[in-house]
Amino acid sequence: MSFPSQRPRRLRRTPAVRRLVRETHAVPSQLVLPAFVREGISEPVAISSMPGVRQHTIDSLRRAAVEAAEAGVGGIMLFGVPAVRDAVGSGADDPEGILNVAAAALAAEVGDALVVQTDLCLDEFTDHGHCGVLTAGGAVDNDATLERYAAMGVAQARAGSALLGLSGMMDGQVEAVREALDAEGFIDTIVLAYSAKYAGAFYGPFREAVDSQLKGDRRTYQMDPGNAREGLREALLDVEEGADIVMVKPALPYLDVLADVRAAVDVPVWAYQVSGEYAMVEAASANGWIDRRGAIEESLLAIRRAGADAILTYWAVEAARWLTSGR
Ligand code: PBG
Repeated sequence: MSFPSQRPRRLRRTPAVRRLVRETHAVPSQLVLPAFVREGISEPVAISSMPGVRQHTIDSLRRAAVEAAEAGVGGIMLFGVPAVRDAVGSGADDPEGILNVAAAALAAEVGDALVVQTDLCLDEFTDHGHCGVLTAGGAVDNDATLERYAAMGVAQARAGSALLGLSGMMDGQVEAVREALDAEGFIDTIVLAYSAKYAGAFYGPFREAVDSQLKGDRRTYQMDPGNAREGLREALLDVEEGADIVMVKPALPYLDVLADVRAAVDVPVWAYQVSGEYAMVEAASANGWIDRRGAIEESLLAIRRAGADAILTYWAVEAARWLTSGR
């Protein structure tokens, strides 16, 4: 009988050895908390499809941001839920618009401890719920939307947002926003491109979180789930256009795209663990079907292993505490 000459199990024998040889780690400073702030409410509002996540008032958002900073989280990504919407999303570049007001409040309060970030997209602000403005025929008008994004980017930078998350999937959006920022002197404002953002079912709970008005779908601008090469192409184009960071979204269902993009670019690559990924784990654990903490930690590790430098996750604060305190 011949014995194995190679024994990988040697390195799995004790917790101490396993800890020593682990290749990948999630760290609090590279977690980003997405947060919703809603205009015209006096108390936070629970989001039923995202247990544990709330639409914040400016005040409760402030407290959540302080809590995130204390937990060592790296940043906070803000989404605005306006009280009034219109066809062109006027609230998006209004300095008094909820998202800009929130960014200003957080920049003042926690700007040194957390990287304050804002979602740059029109869907929360339009009455039709699309990420851009529409033509007379109802199609999403790419180039007219770029002008709106440019104005929105300048307004967010002026409010104090340090990093703009371009999530609208319009062609040329990175270049358009970068040019507008530079022209206004905001040369240090960071542009994060949601480069490979796939259309699909995993954003469902988010639509409740922002009271989305969308009737149809986003398949004429977000990507087809079957396409990996196209995701890489989008990332390369965004780097060419001047993106400082590129992102893949959703995360867990698209780890192959994440690994491809990581191998092809030399800017940071982020991943967004989206609302549907969150809801699946919360629902299964509420039913006692899955070990909640185990599933969360494993998913974060898997996303890091595939190549994400940082992760947007609704569990950012809780996970950061786990990572800090250890088992
Ligand atoms: C668009 C945007 C969406 C999400 C982030 N930015 C919604 C969409 O594309 O339909 C989804 C995030 C999530 O599901 O957690 N502004």
